[in-house]
Amino acid sequence: MKSSALSRIDLIVRALTYSQANAGIFRGEQMRILLCGGAGYIGCHTYATLSERGHQVAIADNFSNSSPEVLTRLRQLSGAPVPFHRLDLRDKPALEALFAQESFDAVIHFAALKAVGESCERPLDYFENNIGGTINLLQAMRGAGVRRLVFSSSATVYGDPEQVPVNEQARLQVTNPYGRTKLVVEELIGDLCRSDRDFRAANLRYFNPVGAHASGLIGEDPNGIPNNLMPYICQVAVGRREKLSVFGGDYPTVDGTGVRDYIHVVDLARAHADALDYLVRADRSLTVNLGTGRGISVLELANAFSSASGREIPYQIVERRPGDVAEVYADPGLAQQLLGWRAEYDVDAMCRDAWRWQSMNPQGYQGG
Ligand code: NAD
Ligand code: UFG
Repeated sequence: MKSSALSRIDLIVRALTYSQANAGIFRGEQMRILLCGGAGYIGCHTYATLSERGHQVAIADNFSNSSPEVLTRLRQLSGAPVPFHRLDLRDKPALEALFAQESFDAVIHFAALKAVGESCERPLDYFENNIGGTINLLQAMRGAGVRRLVFSSSATVYGDPEQVPVNEQARLQVTNPYGRTKLVVEELIGDLCRSDRDFRAANLRYFNPVGAHASGLIGEDPNGIPNNLMPYICQVAVGRREKLSVFGGDYPTVDGTGVRDYIHVVDLARAHADALDYLVRADRSLTVNLGTGRGISVLELANAFSSASGREIPYQIVERRPGDVAEVYADPGLAQQLLGWRAEYDVDAMCRDAWRWQSMNPQGYQGG
């Protein structure tokens, strides 16, 4: 075994310590919840949070952008087998069979393709997977009488906002096919809520999810060259990439580099549990931003990561990336008002946890 890899005993001790520390924090009604796309980055963290709260959770995923190793890690974390269905949302009969075979009180829908550049090259694949897959899911839910949905939306629905912080009343506009799928699905869900008075949905508009679970067992593991900033920085720190390319140094921002609202994935996972509680408790649908409300520049994030990891992050300022905007960060006030949710982790915690995950798993899940 490589010295950087985890030993089995280490994994088990961490998992036991973690589940003991989090036992008994369940707050709302216990539910049977299906996580579509639950083997992915945000889905697996949400699995961990929901299990800690005492919900019965199952995952459906086709592993198009995730690894079966996630299920092993979640089993280690939760100390119990992970109910799993290998399934593609484009396969409607398979979805209907799942809903006929199992009962669910709610669905959280993470399953989507998410690479902005790829969506410009293959828009039809994005429409088929993200919109077609969602329609199949909504139909299967309807057939089985499942009427609670949490949907992974994105700050991308705001495009290039006229002002920051962005609140939920801001004009919606999309700049690429991926963003269009998020906006269209939000609209489909809105129409469904209007047509079925008992259907309740939460559209959660994530800003920039980063970080990893404190155990270091699960985290973000992109295929190929990372598109996003934090996984790229992690791979530079661990020696898989030579240096960071900073896309643009002449934006009208604090230091000329792009500003975003990075949010710890564990805070984000908790918001899903809180949104489900809200659907039950308030018996209303909602659309909310999930961010910290704080903008961080590319160089600020790279510096914070360097301090957290003790590794230098060499970088070079290059041309702006087409389609990027200067500055986007959330007004998260509505989520606080409706859900009682606010982000707890700061940028140092995000970097520390991302680094723990990357240094314990230098090759991601592939390292075993
Ligand atoms: P991810 O790629 O890690 O997870 C998505 C999961 O869905 C993967 O496990 C993939 O295998 C699965 N999947 C995709 N298409 C499927 C299909 N047709 N059938 C079954 N499974 C399928 O992505 P993530 O970062 O965890 O994002 C989760 C959701 O949040 C996505 O909808 C994404 O668009 C949205 N989102 C992500 C970000 C971000 O920066 N990570 C930001 C805003 C919104
Ligand atoms: N950046 C670099 N170098 C890199 C990668 C990114 O300088 O190698 C910069 C970008 O130019 C931007 C910032 O880092 O200023 C953040 O870029 P990301 O790609 O990490 O994130 P984006 O805000 O561009 O987009 C992400 C998701 C979108 C989602 C959006 C809002 O990729 O799908 O957050 O949730 F819509």
